[in-house]
Formats: sequence, C-alpha cells, structure tokens
Amino acid sequence: MHVLGIETSCDETAAAVVSDGRRVRSNVVASQIDVHAAFGGVVPEVASRQHVLAIIPIVRRALAEASLGWPDIGAIAVTAGPGLAGSLLVGVNAAKTLAFAFDLPLVAVNHLEGHVAANWLVEPEPEFPLVCLIVSGGHSDLILMTAPLTYRLLGRTRDDAAGEAFDKVARILELGYPGGPAIQRAAASGDPARLHLPRAWLGDSYDFSFSGLKTAVLRVVESRAAGEAYTDLTNADIAASFQEAVVDVLVTKTRRATEEFGIRQVLLAGGVAANALLRQWAKQRIPGPVQYPPLQYCTDNAAMIAAAGYFRFQAGERADLSLDVAPNLALV
Ligand code: KG4
Ligand code: ZN
Repeated sequence: MHVLGIETSCDETAAAVVSDGRRVRSNVVASQIDVHAAFGGVVPEVASRQHVLAIIPIVRRALAEASLGWPDIGAIAVTAGPGLAGSLLVGVNAAKTLAFAFDLPLVAVNHLEGHVAANWLVEPEPEFPLVCLIVSGGHSDLILMTAPLTYRLLGRTRDDAAGEAFDKVARILELGYPGGPAIQRAAASGDPARLHLPRAWLGDSYDFSFSGLKTAVLRVVESRAAGEAYTDLTNADIAASFQEAVVDVLVTKTRRATEEFGIRQVLLAGGVAANALLRQWAKQRIPGPVQYPPLQYCTDNAAMIAAAGYFRFQAGERADLSLDVAPNLALV
C-alpha cells in the first residue's frame, strides 16, 4: 500500500510516498532555511506563508518522483502536531482537501512518532523492546517501547530541548542557523579538552536540562570578550566542548536506561540524531545494537510521517475532515 505523507510542522515543506511503511518511493523536502537564516531562527508567520507557496508543487513532485498517480495512493498521512500552529494548518488543510477530492482515507500523525518511525525506513527492522532517544529542536524525550505504537516516557527535558540548545549556543558563538550542523562543523577543528562545561545529571532522573549549559557558554564568551578569562579559547574549542557535554549526558542516560530495563535495542531519532558525535558515542558506549536513520530521515521529512501513518492505518486509525491541528500534542 502506498501512503502519501505530508509534513509542515516547522520550517520544512515535505511530501513523500512510502510503500508498506518501510520502502521510500519518493521523499521531497523544501527547506526554508535560507528564508529564516536572515532572522537567526524560524519566524512562524513567514514559515506558514512559505508552506502555502510550496505545498502543492511539493506534493506533485512526490507523486511524480514515485512514478505514481492518485489512483495508486491508498491513504494520506499528515502531521497534526506538535509544531507551529500556522505551519501545521497548511499541511492539515492540504491533506484534508486532497483526501476529500480523491476520496482517500486520512490518518493524523504525531510528528514525534514520525521521528521514531524513521528507523523503520532502513534495514534491519528494529526489534522490541527498545529504548528510543528522540532529540529534536523542540523535544528531548527518552522513551521505552515494548511494542509498536506504545510509548512509556522515561525522561524529558525540563527546559531547552537538545536541538534548541545547539541553536542557541550557535547564536551565542555567531555560527549561524541552524545551529546543530554549524556547531558540529566548528567543533571539528576545536579541542574539547581546553574547556570543561557542566553536565546536569539531575540525580537518578532520566530528565534532561540544557539551559544551565547554555548559560555557562554565554558566561565563557562574555568573559572572553571582556578579556577577563578564556582569552586563548577559540569558538571551535567552545563548540567542541559544548557538543561533548550534550552528547555525554544523552548517551550516558540512554545507556543507563538500557541497563535498568534490560533492553538491548536502542534507537536514535530527531534532528539531533544527525549529529556525528552522538551517533559515534552511542555506538561505542552502549553495548546492544544502536540504530539511527540516515541523515535525510533524521531531520524533518515526510517519509517518516508516511511510515508512521501506515502503521496507524494498519492499527485501524482514521481521521475525518474535522481534523484540527494540535500544536502541543505529546507522544505520551
Ligand atoms: O527534527 P528536526 O529537524 O525538527 C524538529 O522537529 O525540531 O530537528 C531540528 C534540530 C535543530 O535544532 C538542529 O539544530 C538540530 O536538529 N540538528 C543538529 C544537527 N542537525 C540538525 N544538532 C546537532 N548536530 C547536527 N548535526
Ligand atoms: Zn522534527
């Protein structure tokens, strides 16, 4: 069964066709990065308007690249939340209109479930039970899954999400937007051993906290600018030290969860799962099989939405034309 996925929760207009939840036939993403970079971050109203411009051409391209027409499509899956309300509305309205026009079933997808489902787009198929670390611009959730579509929340961020911390620190270091790839690039030529930054372990909790780390970076940069301290540190050193601090906490807590719950399989998901150090340390420091999606399925895309939508469809879920957006939708 071919599912058309539509994703517009933030600043990517995306459409994709996926067969049986696992085989990607097409995956089209129109990034708005250039539009928002001038503002140093996503401007919600600008994002909505870009979605309005892009959505129909992107859906058309997804079908064309899959070499399929409307009669071949079995269902439409669309991100209903979480995300920016105005952005979500464009995708949801497009999906409802297309479902009505072509008389197709409609499935509402939680964006975070989409990030998890991205791990089913490649081989080998992940095995339950598993621990999944979802780290994106808006979320840092550590999840225990004993079966498909069932989520137990072990911990989540108490303040900034991991990706948000990358974006904010990149701004402090004037490295540009989006921050994650910029920090990773800068860190490559830095020495993390030249600066120790604090980790918020939060005792036995699986929760995360990254705002103290961000403030610590700000203090270092301010002291350096005033010539009081850290004057021999480069931005690359600070980026490298920051990246290690974030990854250290993410990997250590994920490994501890696998030990406590006796789990072998670990999945990484979300935009920050594109981070090379996170991928490397997770593989090195966690004993069981660690999987993560290829880069193009880590950051926002519609293939992951089509995959999650297929699994929900198989479970009997349908949305109707009264579907609304849910900007604060949680996974658990
Ligand atoms: O999943 P995503 O594309 O959108 C949300 O659902 O939020 O995640 C975007 C986040 C941004 O904060 C971005 O800076 C971060 O993922 N990111 C990275 C990397 N690539 C993207 N963070 C660290 N290292 C990367 N290579
Ligand atoms: Zn996302």
